[in-house]
Amino acid sequence: MRRKIVAGNWKMNTTPAEGAELLKGVAALKSTIPADVELIVGVPFTHICCVKDAAAAAGIAVSAQNCADHESGAYTGEVSAKMIASLGAKYVILGHSERREYYGETSQTLNKKMALAYEQGLAPIYCVGEKLDEREAGKHFDVVRRQIEEVVFHLTPEQFGKMVIAYEPVWAIGTGKTATAEQAQEIHAFIRKVLAEKFGAAAADQTPILYGGSCKPGNAAEIFSKTDVDGGLIGGASLVAADFIAIAKAF
Ligand code: PGA
Repeated sequence: MRRKIVAGNWKMNTTPAEGAELLKGVAALKSTIPADVELIVGVPFTHICCVKDAAAAAGIAVSAQNCADHESGAYTGEVSAKMIASLGAKYVILGHSERREYYGETSQTLNKKMALAYEQGLAPIYCVGEKLDEREAGKHFDVVRRQIEEVVFHLTPEQFGKMVIAYEPVWAIGTGKTATAEQAQEIHAFIRKVLAEKFGAAAADQTPILYGGSCKPGNAAEIFSKTDVDGGLIGGASLVAADFIAIAKAF
């Protein structure tokens, strides 16, 4: 049985106080979701301290949304994997399309971030996904394969065993357009096949692959019903506790 995961990506939303309230709301409802569904909240760096105790008490894991590509030193404005891990975060989202698009993240930067995250015991939630023009040109399989080969294939089998993958078609993020459940299943199965080429079928079969992109209470059940979809990375809907919980109930 693969792990089932619903992870929130709060992005750059909420003040720390509002984030603490949101976490409280999620924690209060957590007992209503199936016991085998893991909840993760991907919060801004500034919020980790404010949510970690309540999250730990409720059995909710905390994730950062990024980390620096250097260990420490003169990198004004950056936050290291060590800082994040020392606050008690267990995960870090890496390679989100917004980071690739607006902050020039490349596979090269991501490889450095991955290595530092693993050194600190953080498990990466690695995001892959194609843009609209790439989907329309039928290149989505090639794009996703490249994003995996250039980063995930550099991991050791032990590191790979801790990784979570999120497939997020860029055209579905924050747009209200979701991939159909069939489109999600097709590419999730493809991702698993690519992972199996490097790490073997058994390891690939254990890897949680989450879907992200306008996932909501109304469409989660259909998407999560697909064999190779192991949960979701949720942006907008994770900012409303009841919606986030409703998605986790969709399994
Ligand atoms: P969305 O974002 O759910 O708001 O589309 C998902 C994501 O970017 O992780």
